Amino acid sequence: LSVPATLISLDEVKEFKKALRTEQSTIAFVPTLGALHHGHLALVRRAKQLADRVVVSIFVNPTQFGPNEDFAKYPRTVREDIDLLATLNVDAVFLPNTATIYPAGFETYITNRKMSTVLCGASRSGHFDGVLTVVMKLINIIGPDIAVFGKKDYQQLKLIEQMFRDFNHGVRIEPVDTVREPDGLALSSRNRFLSDTDRELAVRLNIGLRAASAAYQRGEKKIDVLIEEFRKVANVSGIALEYAEIRRQSDLESFEGVVDQPPVLLIAAKIGQTRLIDNLELDKTIG
Ligand code: PAF
Repeated sequence: LSVPATLISLDEVKEFKKALRTEQSTIAFVPTLGALHHGHLALVRRAKQLADRVVVSIFVNPTQFGPNEDFAKYPRTVREDIDLLATLNVDAVFLPNTATIYPAGFETYITNRKMSTVLCGASRSGHFDGVLTVVMKLINIIGPDIAVFGKKDYQQLKLIEQMFRDFNHGVRIEPVDTVREPDGLALSSRNRFLSDTDRELAVRLNIGLRAASAAYQRGEKKIDVLIEEFRKVANVSGIALEYAEIRRQSDLESFEGVVDQPPVLLIAAKIGQTRLIDNLELDKTIG
C-alpha cells in the first residue's frame, strides 16, 4: 500500500510534474468531487491500465451547484477517500482550495451553447458551465495524457468530449461504464441520502431502463413506445420523473419519431429529496 502524494498548491503540482517529466511517464487523470465509491474506483482502475502514473483530484466545485442545490450538504469524506485511493496505488491526489481554482479576479467561464441546454441543463441552469470550466482548469493544471470519466454522467461526458474537440485540446477522454449495485441501481455519492423506501423505489429506474433496452433489442424503434416501456415501470408514486428521453449517443440530438442511430435513454428523477440520474445505451446489454 503506497500513500499517494497529496498536492494542494499549484507549486506542489509543478514539482510533481517535474519529477514525472524526468522519468518520461504518461499520466492519466481522474477528476472527482470526492465521496468516492466503487464507480470512482473503476475509473481509477481504468486510468491505471492506460498510463504509468495516475492522479485523482478531489474538489467539490462550487460553480457547478445551483443556489438551491446540495453544495453545502454534498458528502465530504477526504480522509476515507485518500485511504481508498492508497489501496489502488494512486500516485497523487490533487486537493485544491477554492481560492486556487477561483482566485480573486477569476472571470472566464466555458459555455456550451447547444448540448448543455437540454436534459439536465434544462433544469440546472449554469451547472454545465461550472463543470466545463473546472474540468478545463483541472486538466490544464495537471496536464494529463488521458482523462477518465464515467458514463453515469452521460451528458457531462459528451459535453467534455465536445469541449476538447472544439478547443483542439490534445487530451484523450476515456469513458468508463457505469458501476451498479447487484440490483442495478447506479452507484452515486447521493445514494447515501436515500431512505429504505426511497432505495426500494430507486431500483425501478434501472428496471425501466432495461425494459426499454429489451424492447429496442426485440426490434422496437418507435420513441414513444420505448419511452412508455420505461414509464410503465418507473412512473409510480414516490418517483418524480424530471425527464426520460431517447437521444443519439453521438451528440445527444433527439430523434424524429423513430430511432435510426445508436440511441441512449437518459432519465432524471427525484426520489424523496434526492435527485438521481441514470442512462442506458439501448443497443448494449448490461448486467
Ligand atoms: O462528475 C464529477 O464528479 C464532476 O462533475 C467533475 C467532472 C469532477 C467536475 O467537477
